[in-house]
Amino acid sequence: MTERDPRDMRPREGCPVQDWATDFDVMDPDYIKDPAPVWRDLRERCPIAHTTRWGGAWLPTTYADVRDMARAAPTLSNRSPGVIPPAPELREMLIAEVKEFGSELPPISSDAPEHKPFKQLILPLFSPHAVERYRPFTEQLANDLIDRFIATGKADAAVDYAQQIPPRVIAHIIGIDPARADEFVEWVRGVLEEGQTNPEARMANRRHIRDFFQAMIDERRDGLRDDAISALMTAEVEGKRLSDYTIVGVCYLLLVAGIDTTWSSIGAALWHFGMTESDRKRMYAEPDLYPTAIEELLRFYSPVVMARRVLEPVAFGAAEMAPGEKVIMNFPAANRDPAVFEQPDEVVLDRTHNRHIAFGVGIHRCAGSNLARMEMDVALRVWFQRIGDFAVSDPDAVRWAGGQVRGPRIVPMRVTAA
Ligand code: HEM
Repeated sequence: MTERDPRDMRPREGCPVQDWATDFDVMDPDYIKDPAPVWRDLRERCPIAHTTRWGGAWLPTTYADVRDMARAAPTLSNRSPGVIPPAPELREMLIAEVKEFGSELPPISSDAPEHKPFKQLILPLFSPHAVERYRPFTEQLANDLIDRFIATGKADAAVDYAQQIPPRVIAHIIGIDPARADEFVEWVRGVLEEGQTNPEARMANRRHIRDFFQAMIDERRDGLRDDAISALMTAEVEGKRLSDYTIVGVCYLLLVAGIDTTWSSIGAALWHFGMTESDRKRMYAEPDLYPTAIEELLRFYSPVVMARRVLEPVAFGAAEMAPGEKVIMNFPAANRDPAVFEQPDEVVLDRTHNRHIAFGVGIHRCAGSNLARMEMDVALRVWFQRIGDFAVSDPDAVRWAGGQVRGPRIVPMRVTAA
């Protein structure tokens, strides 16, 4: 194999992986579709892989390694949690903003001790009690979405349903005018979907969203309301009110962290049931399965990987990591480790012993897991209540996205009303 420049950021299309242990590619289409065979192979003969693609990275594949690395903060730092390096134009802009204003997305992009006060600021917004307040809104939303397509006998379960729920729920929580929710959802999709490959679209939509949040703050100076943005305006971190920049940053983080993650989980669950008749029938017949089924689908289709930056020389097994290198927190592979899960590559809807780490582990564990679980619960229950039967109508047309967040983006479904 020819030696490659470690700064090489290009996707190297047409340059297939020769050896996943030394040259893995998280954007390889087959890996995105089904990464489990690669993890099985690596676990047996590696188990921490390395690549120079996409700026270079290490990839752990066992539960123990992923857990230990996630707990190795701040030697493994959260300063740049992105898995795929941003395009150069966007990178320049982000660096300039961080220099002027500080960490853009606390707590996800910060280490201790800066991390803790921001985490404490966000957690109450998503406590189990707080998220239950949003259940009726989410149920109404799910029903309204189904009303739009049920009479046609078909739907794209990703585009028409899964992708519509999280941005509208977050918009409601933050306090966005419902009349502007459609516009807002378009900007969010512009950042998270088109913006993945088109930096101009990403920057333009990012600007719209940030300006929009700033205008919401300005509107509330004369009178606070019962919404998250007002709560952030009165909150204090270490005795000080938050700057507008930080409030906008926290709201923006909720979009970046809470939207494509959750729509991927809902979409993957519907794809699973649309492809697997036996499990679909079980869900109709045994509604008590929801709690364990949701945890199992989170484990099996874990959508999120995050990156860490090595700050000091450190070794995990034979992997000797140098400062500046990137490590991918491979929570999805950890959740398929046979050392921890029986039948790891099967969906077992009534699995009871399921200590999955789809939401991460350690100080950066997901702040929105209660909200994500509530949204999945409502999205699946309402779907099964309103739809008498369904199936993926054209499996070849299904498209998966990957990289940092893996999930189906096109899922054509045949649906019949209950
Ligand atoms: C199924 C859906 C979701 C999954 C699988 C997921 C997964 C994750 C993971 C793996 C992390 C850990 C990151 C790390 O270790 O660096 C994380 C962090 C985070 N998530 Fe989620 N997430 C989901 C939904 C949400 C939602 C709905 C929100 C809120 C609206 C949210 C907000 C956050 C925040 C704020 C953090 C950063 C926490 C910190 O740095 O301390 N997530 N999430």
